[in-house]
Amino acid sequence: MRPLTVIANWKMNGSLASNASWVKSVCRGMEQGMPAGRKYAVCVPSPYLAQCGQLIEDYSPAFLSLGAQDVSMYAAGAYTGEVAAAMLKELGCSFVIVGHSERRQYHRETDEHVAEKALQVLDNGMTPVICVGESADERNSGREVEVVRGQISKQVAVLQDRLADCLIAYEPIWAIGTGKVASADLAQDMHRAIRLQLAEFDEDVASHVGILYGGSVKPDNAVELFAMPDIDGGLIGGASLNPQDFLAICQA
Ligand code: 13P
Repeated sequence: MRPLTVIANWKMNGSLASNASWVKSVCRGMEQGMPAGRKYAVCVPSPYLAQCGQLIEDYSPAFLSLGAQDVSMYAAGAYTGEVAAAMLKELGCSFVIVGHSERRQYHRETDEHVAEKALQVLDNGMTPVICVGESADERNSGREVEVVRGQISKQVAVLQDRLADCLIAYEPIWAIGTGKVASADLAQDMHRAIRLQLAEFDEDVASHVGILYGGSVKPDNAVELFAMPDIDGGLIGGASLNPQDFLAICQA
C-alpha cells in the first residue's frame, strides 16, 4: 500500500511572522486528528528552513515534515548561491522538490540536472519529489504522454532502482496557478501511464513509487483526485498558503 502524501509548496512566499502563524495553525489542526497512514510535509523557501524546522519541532513533529523546494546538483564547493543536499538534511528536511516546472522554465533546468539533483537528495537520506508535466501547447497537440514519458525515461536511466525511494509529482503546467485543475480522470490517465512506464523498467519499483498530482488542487477538488487508484496524494501551491485550506486538503 502506498501512503497518501500531501505536500505544501509555498514557492517564494512567507515571512518570519506569517510562517510562525501558519505552522502553529496547521500543527494545532493536525493534533485534532488526521486520517491514519498519511504523510504531510511543507516545502518552504531556504532562508526559512531553520525557523520552520524549529517551529515544527516545537508543535508537532509527529505529523508534519519539513521539505525544501530545490537543491544543488553538486555536493559542495565553489557554487555561489547554491544550497547542498547535506545542508538541507542538517536543517531537518525529509523531502526536496526537484525539477519543478518553474525551475525548468526560469532556470533552464534539464532532465539531466533534475536526475543529478535527485541523486544528491537520495545520497543524503531524503526523498526527492521529482516533478514532470506537459505544457498547454504540448497537450493541445496531443503530445502530452510522449513529453512526460521523455521526462520519466531520463530519470529511470539515471536513478534506476533508486526510483523506488522517490516520489513523482505530475504537474501539468497549464494547471499550475491557473485554477484550471486537471479532471480526476485526466490526471488518473497520466498517472497510470507513468506507472505503466515504470513497470516496463521494474514492476516492483512501479508499485512502490508514490505519484502525486499538482496543479490548482483545492479543498473542493482534492477528494475526487485523491480517490483515484494511481493518485497517491498532492503537491499543493496556492491553496497551501492558507492553513485552513491546506488542512482541508490533508483531510480529503
Ligand atoms: P498551484 O496549486 O498554485 O496550482 O501550484 C501547484 C504547484 O506548482 C505545486 O508545486
